[in-house]
Amino acid sequence: MDIRPATAADVPAITAIYKPEVETGFATFELEPPGEAEMARRMRAITDAGYPYVVAEIDGVVAGYAYASAYRTRPAYRYTVENSIYVAKGMQGKRVGTALMGRLISDCSERGFRLMVAVIGDSANFGSITLHRRCGFHFCGVIHSVGFKLGRWLDSVIMELPLGQGETTPPEDGQLPLPLRLGV
Ligand SMILES: CC(C)(COP(=O)(O)OP(=O)(O)OC[C@H]1O[C@@H](n2cnc3c(N)ncnc32)[C@H](O)[C@@H]1OP(=O)(O)O)[C@@H](O)C(=O)NCCC(=O)NCCS
Repeated sequence: MDIRPATAADVPAITAIYKPEVETGFATFELEPPGEAEMARRMRAITDAGYPYVVAEIDGVVAGYAYASAYRTRPAYRYTVENSIYVAKGMQGKRVGTALMGRLISDCSERGFRLMVAVIGDSANFGSITLHRRCGFHFCGVIHSVGFKLGRWLDSVIMELPLGQGETTPPEDGQLPLPLRLGV
């Protein structure tokens, strides 16, 4: 398995991996699957703002992707990222997610970010909650029934992972680009 930075050539595969999660899953609160142009626009916005976007490639096929983006856009949040991670349906449970998350954590730590937040949909997403726990995240809390999709109320499970020196030292100002409004 090769974990590498995503490129524009990966957009069709990424769009195809995300589509069923939007249409039938509860990990994302989007209701309409975005097309390739929109996924390409989002990828550019994320990488242009200085956040990592990576894919897992197995035998030349993209098996999953992960990226970090601004947790919230007000500038005091600028050392905190939120993660997003999706593995293709047929490739789940084979440690692809673990490999992607490991790379995302190290890329974000190297860039000087101090906290990674996971906003997990939904409370029943045992795969994602287990993945985050195995990767060192701690449970923060649950926002109950914060979303409604496919006829049911959805929770957000919040988990966090300190990066680098975490909160033990002040950040080095100027090390990071200010998060941009990403529209994602
Ligand atoms: C959640 C997801 C990213 C995990 O990636 P993955 O490649 O399937 O996970 P891994 O194989 O690396 O497994 C990581 C750990 O979680 C456990 N796990 C994975 N799927 C599980 C499930 N459905 N139920 C319980 N545990 C599960 C694995 O056993 C493993 O634990 P271990 O190290 O003790 O063996 C992937 O399943 C996925 O894309 N799901 C749909 C979209 C989604 O929920 N994305 C997350 C948005 S917050």
